[in-house]
Amino acid sequence: MNLELAGQNAVVVGGANGMGRMIAKTFAAEGAGVALLDRDPVVDEVAQEAASHGVDTFSQQVDVTDFAALQTAAARIENELGPVRHVVFTVGIDSGKGGYPFWNLEPSDWPRVHEVNVLGAVNTAHAFYEPMIARRQGTFLFFSSVSGQIGSQTDPPYSVSKAAVLSFMQIAAKDFAAYNIRANAICPGMVDTPLQRRIHKFSTADLPEDERPTYEDWCTEKIGSLAVLGRLVSQEEIASTVVFLASEHARNITGQAINVDSGWVMHW
Ligand SMILES: NC(=O)c1ccc[n+]([C@@H]2O[C@H](COP(=O)([O-])OP(=O)(O)OC[C@H]3O[C@@H](n4cnc5c(N)ncnc54)[C@H](O)[C@@H]3O)[C@@H](O)[C@H]2O)c1
Repeated sequence: MNLELAGQNAVVVGGANGMGRMIAKTFAAEGAGVALLDRDPVVDEVAQEAASHGVDTFSQQVDVTDFAALQTAAARIENELGPVRHVVFTVGIDSGKGGYPFWNLEPSDWPRVHEVNVLGAVNTAHAFYEPMIARRQGTFLFFSSVSGQIGSQTDPPYSVSKAAVLSFMQIAAKDFAAYNIRANAICPGMVDTPLQRRIHKFSTADLPEDERPTYEDWCTEKIGSLAVLGRLVSQEEIASTVVFLASEHARNITGQAINVDSGWVMHW
């Protein structure tokens, strides 16, 4: 399928690692120019990888909780790379602590997760929307999670933040519709990334050492019991869904939470 993304520009916020990194490379492989923003300096290396596909790239270290810095980066991208067509917000952090029950955490464990996961998404939308609505063209994609739909107890502040991202995405989809801009969310199941490995560490930390599952056994057990296909989702599978949603093939998809989760959460 020709996605016809060549020559368009995509911004990947959180593009230094994990799924964001794969998404940046996949847009570049489709011929799209790529701008990468992340707090991790590795972001410049990812821009170089993307440039190997012969596309223009831009990278800058930014913390998504710093709205002024995001605004400056957005203006630089418009000037130096060109008109932004797609914005993908992949940033997400965990609290670093396991729930079960939620009072294992303190109320003070909540604000940073929400500042990054929810306000980061809101800041990003505010920083980029203006020239996009003036051009009446574009897409926004926010990263939520199955955990935001099922009251996952693993990391309560994280689950609640992911539900909030879905709500913001729906509001954005309604507000943008008159400007021919679509907004959707991807809800991954279990994907092997640095974040997933951190969750394994803290959610098994309280078990006696001889009962602590390896990362691989933990994934197999969890996904096998929760998702009907019983498979981990690959970063490539997430990235190909992202570029499809950015393309005109998805022109009638907006306001949706797309579960790429091996059949974990089902709606009708
Ligand atoms: N890995 C999974 O199984 C899984 C499952 C469901 C949802 N998700 C969601 O998918 C998205 C991508 O997850 P991932 O597993 O690739 O994560 P990751 O931790 O591998 O990558 C997240 C990126 O966000 C960046 N980041 C974190 N805080 C930032 C900040 N304040 N400012 C700028 N950049 C910041 C990190 O440097 C990193 O590059 C996240 O929103 C995550 O919550 C992941």
